[in-house]
Order: sequence, then structure tokens, then C-alpha cells
Amino acid sequence: TAQLILWAVIGYGLGSIPFGMILARLMGLGNLREIGSGNIGATNVLRTGNKTAAALTLLLDAAKGAFAVLLARAYAAEDAAQLAALAAFLGHCYPVWLRFRGGKGVATFIGLWLALAWPVGLTNCATWLVAVLVTRTSSVGALSAAAFSTIWAVLLGQGTALILGILLTLLVFWRHRANIARLKAGTEPRIGSKS
Ligand code: G3P
Repeated sequence: TAQLILWAVIGYGLGSIPFGMILARLMGLGNLREIGSGNIGATNVLRTGNKTAAALTLLLDAAKGAFAVLLARAYAAEDAAQLAALAAFLGHCYPVWLRFRGGKGVATFIGLWLALAWPVGLTNCATWLVAVLVTRTSSVGALSAAAFSTIWAVLLGQGTALILGILLTLLVFWRHRANIARLKAGTEPRIGSKS
């Protein structure tokens, strides 16, 4: 148990690094809280107009999720890797450094699934991409990828990660409450638009 707690703490620590916030500050793009949705993720970094910063945010927020899993798996076992994955996701969404007001976890979700079970990770990426290409809306990509992820996990024989998968799916939906309300109201912005 002590070891599992350690991996939860390491996962949380990695996940709680707000790369979007850090990059926006370092690259002089302003305060993400005052831009677009106010979120710290790649979608909102893109609203600053800087594609490089947005791509880097996506990459690093995904990498921290993957890294947490790979690290735990290398030094412990699969249960530690799953716990580290969940902790990294929660770290991104509820970082102590930002008074627990973090992101929506989508890039981290993609990254941790790629490391947990890369076929599920790839199908999640594909689901996200198809939904975004069709709707041009980042949150629809996120919600679709999350909703389908457990189906992919079962179909691709990753049943051991099913409980984690369901939990992550619910958390992604919970973190997108405001987006879901905007989608219902028809006011959710498309990717690339500034608001
Ligand atoms: O990854 C978060 C995305 O799904 C929505 O971001 O900034 O449009 O709320 P945002």
C-alpha cells in the first residue's frame, strides 16, 4: 500500500504541472484565465493564436500522463501504473498549485491511454480526430473520445483497465459541464475561433 500511495503522489505531481499556463507565460501569450474559456489546455492556448504553443501544450500534457504510467510500470506493477494514470489525470484537473482549478484532462487522458494500452490510445486519438473533423469543436472530440474509450478497451481486450476507463470517462464529462451546457445552447465555439 505504501508503494501505491507513492505512485499516486508521483502521478499527481506529474499531472499537476500546468504546461499550458507555463508555456503561455514563458512565450508572452498572456493569462489563459482571461482568454477564451479560461481553461489551461491546448484548445484554449490555441485561442491565443500561437499554434506552436498549443501543439507543445498538447504534447506535454499528453506526455506527463504517459510518463506517469511508464514510470510506475517500470518500477512497480500494472496496478501502480493504473493508479498513477488516474492520479496524473486528477493532478491535471485539480492541481494544488492552481488552487485545484485545473484543466479538463483531455490531452492527459490521450497520453495515459497510449501508455496503458497503445491500441486503445490510438483508437481514442482516431475518435477525437474524426469527431473534431466532423464538428470542428474540440469539446465534442473530447467527449466522443471519452465515451468510446471504454468500448474500445473492451473490444481490444483491455478489460483489466475497465474500471479505470469508466472512471476517466465520467471525469472527462464532469470536467466538460460548461462545454456541454454551451453545446446544448448552441454557443460552443469551433476550433480556431477566438471566443
Ligand atoms: O480539451 C478541452 C477541450 O475539450 C475544451 O476546451 O477551452 O474549449 O473549454 P475549451
